[in-house]
Amino acid sequence: MSSQVLDRNLIMDAVRVCEAAAIAAWQLVGRGDEKAADQAAVDAMRTALNDLDIDGEIVIGEGERDEAPMLYIGEKVGKGKGAKIDIALDPLEGTTLTAKAMANALAVMAWAPKGTLLNAPDTYMDKIACGPGYPAGVIDLDKTPAENVAALAKAKGVDATAITVCILDRPRHAEIIASVRSVGARVHLITDGDVAGVINTADPETGIDMYVGSGGAPEGVLACAALKCVGGQFQGRLVFRNADERARAARVGITDLDKKYDLHEMVRADAIFAATGVTKGALLDGVRVSDGFVHTHTLVMNSASHTVREVRMKRPV
Ligand code: FBP
Repeated sequence: MSSQVLDRNLIMDAVRVCEAAAIAAWQLVGRGDEKAADQAAVDAMRTALNDLDIDGEIVIGEGERDEAPMLYIGEKVGKGKGAKIDIALDPLEGTTLTAKAMANALAVMAWAPKGTLLNAPDTYMDKIACGPGYPAGVIDLDKTPAENVAALAKAKGVDATAITVCILDRPRHAEIIASVRSVGARVHLITDGDVAGVINTADPETGIDMYVGSGGAPEGVLACAALKCVGGQFQGRLVFRNADERARAARVGITDLDKKYDLHEMVRADAIFAATGVTKGALLDGVRVSDGFVHTHTLVMNSASHTVREVRMKRPV
């Protein structure tokens, strides 16, 4: 679908929304209260969104209407005039990272024309991703992690020992980690934040070649919006642990529960992706306050033009 829906003037609007959420969450960095940090980010992001000339609908948000009073799936945001857009957001990606003042917490959002983002339910998703420059299909969710490492190494022209795979540090990933290590590849474990984990595959400076493992399905859509802008490959498959999760999928119109989605099925049109650092990480610097000024660092990208910008904001506190 055309990028005309997403006027490029929306880029700075997206930046301001993520900045507002990140600054609000930053107030709670290191204070041990994940809920308060998330709530602060949600409030700020919602206020900033409602100040915009957009006709937005949340498709990836804080949860279903009965469990999330704000930024719930289906909530309309913006002034109701202007571009009709689907909005995927995570006002605070890394609530624990924020509460514990650890690296890599972000305020994240993606915009795409109405009806073009996968309405992913709030379940887990098995994910695999790599950066740009590889032949299509080089990674495949249905292959073992060891096979995927071997394929990526071959395509990159290196030995498997030169490949680094980012994985969420969870007991459920023990087999994946063993499989990756069995062919000599490095495993880069992260405690949280797989949106950044996926995006890092597209940035050679991070040294991450591949992301694999299960994490939130909503985070999968956000990561796909980012990869759509910078290139790369992604596959995801929803994981259902019980009937309630299957019902969640049904409510957002998903009938094929075993479907393997690729990036362009999860984000079916050009998208804008923005993320502001809350705490400093590989992707972005965190919010900083010094000498009476607050500083932020935001990544904003447009898949229509493949433009990648880093925006540094400074304003009086
Ligand atoms: P929150 O910010 O909601 O805490 O999510 C952080 C996160 O690490 C995501 O990046 C990831 O997709 C998900 O949690 C993994 O879930 P779990 O912690 O249940 O393994």
